[in-house]
Amino acid sequence: MCGIVAYVGTREAYPIILKGLKRLEYRGYDSSGVALLSNELSVYKKKGKVAELEESLVGKDLHANIGIGHTRWATHGEPSDRNAHPHLSPSGKLAMIHNGIIENYGQLKSELLKKGYRFHSDTDTEVLLSFIDDIREHNDCSLEEAIRIALKRVVGAYVIVILDRDNPNTLIAARKGSPLVIGIGKGEHFLASDASPIIEYTKEVVYINDYELAIIRPDELILKNLGNETITPYIQKLDMELAAIEKGGYDHFMLKEIFEQPHTIFDCLRGRLELSEGKIHMRGVEEHMEQLKQAKRIIIVACGTSWHAGLVAEYVFEELCRIPVEVEYASEFRYRNPVIHPGDVIIAISQSGETADTLVAIEKAKEQGALIFGVLNVVGSSIARASHAGAYTHAGPEIGVASTKAFTAQLAVLTMMALKLAMEKGTIDAKRYQHLMTELSDIPEKVQTILQNTDNIRMIAEKYADARDFLYLGRGYNFPVALEGALKLKEISYIHAEGYPAAEMKHGPIALVDDQLPVVFIATKDAYHDKIISNMQEIKARKGRVIAVITEGDTVITDMADDVMTVPAADEIVAPLLSVIPMQLLAYYIGVHKGLDVDKPRNLAKSVTVE
Ligand code: F6R
Repeated sequence: MCGIVAYVGTREAYPIILKGLKRLEYRGYDSSGVALLSNELSVYKKKGKVAELEESLVGKDLHANIGIGHTRWATHGEPSDRNAHPHLSPSGKLAMIHNGIIENYGQLKSELLKKGYRFHSDTDTEVLLSFIDDIREHNDCSLEEAIRIALKRVVGAYVIVILDRDNPNTLIAARKGSPLVIGIGKGEHFLASDASPIIEYTKEVVYINDYELAIIRPDELILKNLGNETITPYIQKLDMELAAIEKGGYDHFMLKEIFEQPHTIFDCLRGRLELSEGKIHMRGVEEHMEQLKQAKRIIIVACGTSWHAGLVAEYVFEELCRIPVEVEYASEFRYRNPVIHPGDVIIAISQSGETADTLVAIEKAKEQGALIFGVLNVVGSSIARASHAGAYTHAGPEIGVASTKAFTAQLAVLTMMALKLAMEKGTIDAKRYQHLMTELSDIPEKVQTILQNTDNIRMIAEKYADARDFLYLGRGYNFPVALEGALKLKEISYIHAEGYPAAEMKHGPIALVDDQLPVVFIATKDAYHDKIISNMQEIKARKGRVIAVITEGDTVITDMADDVMTVPAADEIVAPLLSVIPMQLLAYYIGVHKGLDVDKPRNLAKSVTVE
């Protein structure tokens, strides 16, 4: 959460920072700001989206070759101009941007208040900056030393970048828990929360690790730990193209990402699923095969949409591998005292690889001897580096705040993993293995078929867009899809929606049903098909409006439901990869019909780096 960008070099800093902030806006859009240093240190900030900041700066002299910028997702203090970053230090010499939370800021603040300091914002960031400023002013030490001393007292997560009026050529950055990438150009450096603001200028990057401090000048990058020892930067090449982070003719990133799914799923399977050989190649799985085979239990930790992918995986692993699976909300798992045995396998699922709760949860499990396997999209992310092994989803950058293509890629990876493990364990026979491999390899084409006819889904969306509430019901492998459909709708359209196992509906939610309530059934043909038809009858009997996602050719439900959306037939194990697509589109079209900003829904941020 919160996006940071900084530049030092010979170009104009402001346009680079502004463009970078627009690319990082998915991380938060409550307010934004920039600090630029030429003859003087100037700070500009504004409540609202980056475009509002840009507009407020038209006509100003923004010439500078060094600067920092921030787009905020509010934690401490309401979204406002004064709580926006960058913050200025009491001496007026330092400007700082921050992503993360300083948990002991209250303690630091009361110490500073006793010393006579006054604050102009409600943020933890201003407190940390004042603390650094105070150390520097009173200990006669360098800024670098003052930052080191201050950070040793800080509890929490941060990336900070500081601009110093007295050192007009130097940025100092430090990290713990939140992400920071430094792009290395010729006589220039770019800093950002992820690689998207950097990719246009250079592909050579350094990912900063926890407890590292970077001193960055146009020609120099010095990396140190908090003990002041120098570290050799590990330079990596970015495997990302600029086109991947642009809208490419679509109205929204969300729509582009939904339509990319035939390719992203294909890319995820490519090189792994070898139908002709009858083999699945996954290095991370192969290297830990013995541990995986011996696992008495798999615990999946994740949040949000990734947690829903984990729920589907629970059904798949239990069915194919006969290993008990528990799916945990990372935020609950990390604060419980979970029972973890050394032979347990933890699968962490995360698109961003930066979700704070998931990161801490796996660190906790790692301490207790579990094997950590990451199913992640962002290469080099914090969770990737904290895992023992893993498999990337290769979905490419996901910029729309609501997760779409990352979910289907997660399902593809998890299904391949389960299939491979099941074959090694001997818990499925060769025929079923081959059949499921074929089913999986057919998915990209079937997704393409759904996407070829979206007009029907758009019409249904418009018909129901004024509903106040929605209920989503599914059984078996499609139950998590009901949860995901409801989450997508809430996020994008601000309509209250709940997902339930279809049979559980009788134990409470059925009280909500009246002739105004749309009930979405995820009812593709599977082992529970007759059961879900009975559930549908129960809703119809109470005059609920039934919308159903069905398998092509299902005339029984077509005759019964008010509206249907069809998907091609598929084995129930891979069916969620298809049935979720109409759910994504339904939410998207309702959001658009209501005139909402679907790529940046209110109050949300893409990468949840605070707990
Ligand atoms: C929903 C959504 C969120 C994320 C959740 C976990 O559309 O995007 O619920 O799924 O914040 O994020 P990652 O997968 O990055 O750990």
